[in-house]
Amino acid sequence: MNRTKRLRRVKAKLLSPLRDNAYAQVLNVRSVKASDAKNIAKLSTRLGYPVSARQMVRRIGVVRTRRDQKLFAAELNQNIVGWLEIFLPLSVLNFGKAEIGALIVDDHYRRFGVGSALMNAAHGWAERKRCPFIYLRSNVIRKKAHKFYKHKGYAILKTQYVFQKLFSKTKRRNVE
Ligand SMILES: CC(C)(COP(=O)(O)OP(=O)(O)OC[C@H]1O[C@@H](n2cnc3c(N)ncnc32)[C@H](O)[C@@H]1OP(=O)(O)O)[C@@H](O)C(=O)NCCC(=O)NCCS
Repeated sequence: MNRTKRLRRVKAKLLSPLRDNAYAQVLNVRSVKASDAKNIAKLSTRLGYPVSARQMVRRIGVVRTRRDQKLFAAELNQNIVGWLEIFLPLSVLNFGKAEIGALIVDDHYRRFGVGSALMNAAHGWAERKRCPFIYLRSNVIRKKAHKFYKHKGYAILKTQYVFQKLFSKTKRRNVE
């Protein structure tokens, strides 16, 4: 057996309690706190959205004051192993919809139900807000994530281009 296979087996053994409902309480999904900023920033950077812990403290602080936005953290033995953002974008065309803004699970803890637990928390939040539906965007290259979303009951509605126009520094609002 090669090293990768052996490591996979050890990991599966260590994490097997997550697969068993009797031990499901070891995974705790809760609101994100400012003290999670470092771990959240690390996971975000890995997803391709570089952000410092300091910037993240500020962002979490802003989001925590809002009723139309929520950050969930998945905590396993006091480690943050994933996080999710959901919000209610105010749009006259899609009034009342909820949108998942971000979801990432630490690559060492994938396929153990962490993403599902975060999504379930988001679905519960959206239901309590009486949203008619949840929307999310996912880069076409994220094939594995698409399988996950389909597993969670999502269907592809359409494909789009995302356009961006940069403003000069002087015109930009200082957000951080
Ligand atoms: C997508 C992601 C959040 C899934 O999280 P996860 O904790 O691994 O997902 P779960 O363990 O809850 O998976 C539930 C089910 O989804 C499906 N699924 C999840 N990952 C899959 C994969 N890589 N390939 C095929 N199916 C997958 C499976 O049916 C799985 O059930 P099973 O493990 O019993 O077969 C995680 O892979 C991730 O963080 N990816 C990188 C970041 C990313 O792409 N985020 C989405 C941005 S739009």
